[in-house]
Amino acid sequence: MPQPLDLPQGFRWGVSTAAYQIEGAVDEDGRGPSIWDTFAARPGAVRDGHTGAVACDHYHRYPEDVALMQGLGLDGYRFSIAWPRIRPTGAGPANPAGLDFYDRLVDGLLEAGITPLPTLFHWDLPQALEDGGGWLARDTAYRFAEYTALVADRLGDRVPAWITLNEPFVHMVYGYAMGIHAPGRALMLDALPAAHHQLLGHGLAAAVLRERGLDVMIANNLTPVRPASSSEADQAAATAYDALHNRLFTDPILLGHYPDLSAFGVGPDLGGSVRDGDLKLIAATPLDGLGVNYYNPTRIAAPTDPGLPFAEAPIEGVPRTAFDWPVVPDGLRELLTGLRDRYGAALPPVTITENGCSVADEPAADGTVSDPDRIAYLAGHLDALAAAVAEGVDVRGYFTWSLLDNFEWAEGYHQRFGLVHVDFETQRRTPKASYAWYRDLIAAHRAVREG
Ligand code: FCB
Repeated sequence: MPQPLDLPQGFRWGVSTAAYQIEGAVDEDGRGPSIWDTFAARPGAVRDGHTGAVACDHYHRYPEDVALMQGLGLDGYRFSIAWPRIRPTGAGPANPAGLDFYDRLVDGLLEAGITPLPTLFHWDLPQALEDGGGWLARDTAYRFAEYTALVADRLGDRVPAWITLNEPFVHMVYGYAMGIHAPGRALMLDALPAAHHQLLGHGLAAAVLRERGLDVMIANNLTPVRPASSSEADQAAATAYDALHNRLFTDPILLGHYPDLSAFGVGPDLGGSVRDGDLKLIAATPLDGLGVNYYNPTRIAAPTDPGLPFAEAPIEGVPRTAFDWPVVPDGLRELLTGLRDRYGAALPPVTITENGCSVADEPAADGTVSDPDRIAYLAGHLDALAAAVAEGVDVRGYFTWSLLDNFEWAEGYHQRFGLVHVDFETQRRTPKASYAWYRDLIAAHRAVREG
C-alpha cells in the first residue's frame, strides 16, 4: 500500500490526455481535418505510417474511459478539445455536434465526481488555418480567441478552469523549427513568430475566459537546464537554451517581456512579429495556475553546429525509459524550486499537468500487465514534488501522463505511457499494475484528507 505524502490540503490528483492522441473518429460528426491528419498521412512522417484515425476510439468509448477514471478516484481530468471538431474550417459558427461531444464528456465526468480541466489547443490545428500560415500568421491568434469563446460559452457553466495552450515550446520547435511534428515545417529560427503568435493567442483567449469568470492556466513543458561542465562556454550555452526552452513561454506571461535571445541573433521583436501592446496583452490576465509538464532535465554544452548557440549533451548513469528519456526524479524538485527562485511573487500556484514515462508494456499470459518501472518513476517524481513542497513551493495538483496508451505523435503507437494498456487491434483496455498503485495512493491521501 503506497504511503501518503506530505502535501497541502486540497491537493488534486488527476490524469492527462489529448484529443488527437485518443479520440479517433476523425471524419465523424462534422470534424474538419487537422494538421495532424495531414502530417500523419505523409509517407515517413510517423513511425510505421501510424495515424490517429482510430487511436483509442475514445470518441465512442468515453463512458468506459470515464468509468476507468472513476475507478482511480480522480479529482480532475485534463483532456483537450479538438479545435477542428468545433470549427471545422477554422472560422465561422460552431459545429453543434462537436460541442455536443464535449458536453456529454463533461457531464459524464461531473457525474463521476471528476472536475474537467480542458486544454484548448493540444497541437491539432484546423488544417484550414495552417493553409493560411498556421501559427506563423498573426490571424491564427484571433481565430483561437473566437474558438475559445464558442467553447467557453457552451461549457463554462460546468468547467471552472481552462488551459489555453499545451507546450507551445514543443509545438514551435518540433512542428515549425525541425519539422518532426505537424505541420512539418523546418524553419529553424524563422519559426520564432510561431512562439509569439501562440503567446498572443494565449493572451487573447485568457481575456475571453476571464470575462466569463473562468480560471486561466497554460501548460508549459519545462526542464531544468544543466551545463555539461563549469566551463564558461558550456554555461553560456545552458543560459541560451534555458531562455529558449523555459523563459520564452513563461517570462512574457508572468513578467511581461521576452527573455534575452541575443545568443540566437534574435532581437526582442522575435523576427518582426511583436507589435506595440502585444506584451501588455499577453501578461494582462494573471494566470490562476501555471501548468508544468515535466519529463526530464536537459544537459547542455557549447555548440558544435554554428547555426545554434548550444548543443544537447547526454545525461549518463541514470535509468532510461522506453523512449530513451533519462529518468531523473529530483529534476522535478530542482525545476519547481528554480521556478520559485526565478519568479518569486510573480509565480502563481503550480499544478503538474503532465509527468509519466513510456514502458514497453505487454500483457502476460494471464492477461495482467506488470509495470514496476512506471510505478518507480511515478513514486520517485512524487517524492521530488513533496520535497519541493517542503521547500515552500506552492504545488496544488499532479496529473499523470497518461490514462491510456495512445498515439504518441511521431512515434505512433510505439510508446506506451498509459496506466491502462490498450490493445489497438481490439480496443481492449487492461488496467496495469500502476493503475492499482495510483488508485491506492489517491485513496491513501483521501483517507488523510477526510481524517
Ligand atoms: C508531451 C505532450 C503529450 C505527450 C507526452 C509524452 O510533450 O504534451 O502530448 O506526447 O509529451
